[in-house]
Amino acid sequence: MQYDAVIFDLDGTITESAPGIMNSVSYALNSMNLPVPGEDVLRAFVGPPLVDSFMRFIHLSEADAHTAVKKYRERHTVIGWKEALVYKGMLRVLISLKRAGVYVALASSKPLPLCEKTLDYFGLLPLFDKLVGPEYSASSSDKELLIKQALPEKYNRACMVGDRKFDMDGAKRAGIEAIGAGYGYGSREELMDSGADYYAETPDALLKLLLPEDKHAPGFFISLEGSDGCGKSTQLRMLTDFLNSAGASLTVTREPGGCPISERIRSLVLDVKAMGMTDECEALLFAASRAQHVRDVIRPALKRGDIVVCDRFVDSSIAYQGAGRNLGPWVREINERAVDGCMPDLTLFLDLDPDEALRRRISANAADRIESADDGFMRRVYSGFKNLQNEAPKRVISIDASGEIEQIYTRIRQTVIDRLVQLSIRTGNSEG
Ligand code: TYD
Repeated sequence: MQYDAVIFDLDGTITESAPGIMNSVSYALNSMNLPVPGEDVLRAFVGPPLVDSFMRFIHLSEADAHTAVKKYRERHTVIGWKEALVYKGMLRVLISLKRAGVYVALASSKPLPLCEKTLDYFGLLPLFDKLVGPEYSASSSDKELLIKQALPEKYNRACMVGDRKFDMDGAKRAGIEAIGAGYGYGSREELMDSGADYYAETPDALLKLLLPEDKHAPGFFISLEGSDGCGKSTQLRMLTDFLNSAGASLTVTREPGGCPISERIRSLVLDVKAMGMTDECEALLFAASRAQHVRDVIRPALKRGDIVVCDRFVDSSIAYQGAGRNLGPWVREINERAVDGCMPDLTLFLDLDPDEALRRRISANAADRIESADDGFMRRVYSGFKNLQNEAPKRVISIDASGEIEQIYTRIRQTVIDRLVQLSIRTGNSEG
């Protein structure tokens, strides 16, 4: 029987939060003029309730342990909590559970507001049905109680996923199964000795324990598009950094190029020395590069369940060759075979006025062969993109690319998070 309720611990199970916790413990001890212990001891603070750890590992009195926790929070609530990463693969675990209709909750010894802030920071909050954690003022927390509060009223088969003995113990006492997250901070021995029913070495192994293969979330394909000079490279870097920190298994690639054969086509098609290249040859080369790239890189990555982020895809051909070079619908035809049905789930079109884009390009480096075309070409390209957005308004989302880099990034990040949450509710898209 499949699990219908899964309760997660946070630190060491969803997030790799050791650096922020260890730095904040050191800060607390420093500010109390106490010696800072070695890394092994600092690492042992990850997971269990802090007051207990200060008493146990540093031998503080209960009153001093409370003072230490106060100091710890001074730093942790400001910077420490952001010094975390979601374990690679966890995003897919959570999306898959949600898609499969499984009840998902959090039972953490970390103060509830901090759990909420952390999950929200990584865009994971909408994937949880319930969060349970102690208030800031609580001195220590009983995992059994937290787990019982986190469980739904009714369930057939539930488990707790955690990385320390408190989680395994708590699960057993709450009467549910326990899965040890071996990639976290507890050893295999600690987990098995404290009652783990199963042990998962990686988030991928965890997913296999939690759900049958046919219920694992499919990959998700994102393309970034826009005229030359729209700021796409910077935004692509920021988006992929975010997805990496949010636990995505990520494939980042580009067009033209992305695999050895297509990179060779890229050097030819963008070569300024190839000025005599006909528009038809250019369009076919872009399509040829894409045909190889889809089969070598994009499709296999999607099949693995990765999030694929591609710098330009078929929409660039439709805008640049179809509209820019006036080759019309033929470009779409040749690309049909090249993409072979493998279309992005989400296309982010960075919408920047062509005059502004031109100003940005003038201040940038030397242009490639395509960027060297006349100004009328870029205006046609821009209107080509605008048309695409009207044709497939669900897939192609326009992002205002004027203004501050951070503002643009915030829009992109929110759009991507919203779509990933939607992925957890329904499948794919039906637009071309
Ligand atoms: P690149 O240096 O990657 O530019 P950018 O950073 O702006 O993406 O060069 C890609 C150039 O190729 C760019 O001018 C757009 C153009 N292009 C097409 O004309 N058709 C296509 O199908 C693709 C993928 C790109």
